[in-house]
Amino acid sequence: MSVFLFGANSMLGWSMLRAAGATAVDGFCNGFTRKPPPDIDRGIHLDDELAVAELFRDEQPSLIINCAGICDVGTCEESPDFAYSVNVDGARILVDHAPAATRIVYLSSDHVFGGDAGPYREDTPPSPISVYGHTRVAAEQLFLARPNTLVVRAGLWIGPSSNGRMGHLDWLRDRHRRGLPMTIVADEHRSAVWAEDAARRVWDLARSELTGLRHVVADRIVSRPELATYLDGHFAIGARFELESRHDRKTPHLGHVDLVTLHRDPLATPLPSVIPPR
Ligand SMILES: NC(=O)c1ccc[n+]([C@@H]2O[C@H](COP(=O)([O-])OP(=O)(O)OC[C@H]3O[C@@H](n4cnc5c(N)ncnc54)[C@H](OP(=O)(O)O)[C@@H]3O)[C@@H](O)[C@H]2O)c1
Repeated sequence: MSVFLFGANSMLGWSMLRAAGATAVDGFCNGFTRKPPPDIDRGIHLDDELAVAELFRDEQPSLIINCAGICDVGTCEESPDFAYSVNVDGARILVDHAPAATRIVYLSSDHVFGGDAGPYREDTPPSPISVYGHTRVAAEQLFLARPNTLVVRAGLWIGPSSNGRMGHLDWLRDRHRRGLPMTIVADEHRSAVWAEDAARRVWDLARSELTGLRHVVADRIVSRPELATYLDGHFAIGARFELESRHDRKTPHLGHVDLVTLHRDPLATPLPSVIPPR
């Protein structure tokens, strides 16, 4: 199996790369990235149609795992055209140019829902509250219309990042180390699973023949303060943080986004929450 992993230096891509096992993976970062992390030696602008067309003229991977995108909610609110060009035009370009025989797995997000009206199954209509969420919904529709393609939605993945600053765990560690203030959203509840478990699940889904839409679910959802307090203690970080309501934040924050699944097979089994039961 030949695999292209786009967004390999992203929070999720980094865990997917580490969980690849014996599978050989070509990891791609954004073509602009000057100093990619070790093991990622290729670059591509997924919103550059000519570059993508050229890539697939020369190479036909059997599987593409797409973790690339503009995923910062604030950036998407401030620059919606940029967010749409990468997240949605990029999806259209990939769908148009990837070889027909290539399987695609697209990593989407629980941001396709807003919160407070869950639990949310695969057949629940999307209800995004941010530009970011809207771009994900639009991209999902493009991927769902393609044969041999799977869209995977997940909540928070907790694990190491490629640069030691991204994701919730490294954010806490990095800001504490640099003595920077930290504010946690008091009223956001989502699923939070260990990135290693989630990456293994996505690899199993990628190696299967499943198509359509799948949620990667946790056995319960947790609040942001619960999560930060747990990670702080578990990794002996020593962080101090303020709490703020999502209603007082400038950028949209999710409410209670409880991802559940309508499927009952082994690849739908809930993953253990990062916070173990009391
Ligand atoms: N973070 C989470 O907990 C989480 C949870 C569930 C689902 N997801 C989903 O998983 C995916 C990755 O999320 P993330 O938070 O891990 O993302 P991230 O850390 O923000 O990384 C985004 C990735 O996209 C790449 N990228 C950006 N613009 C690009 C372009 N024009 N062409 C090619 N690559 C480009 C970036 O490369 P450079 O760094 O080189 O610019 C980076 O690898 C997204 O689809 C997201 O919806 C994330």
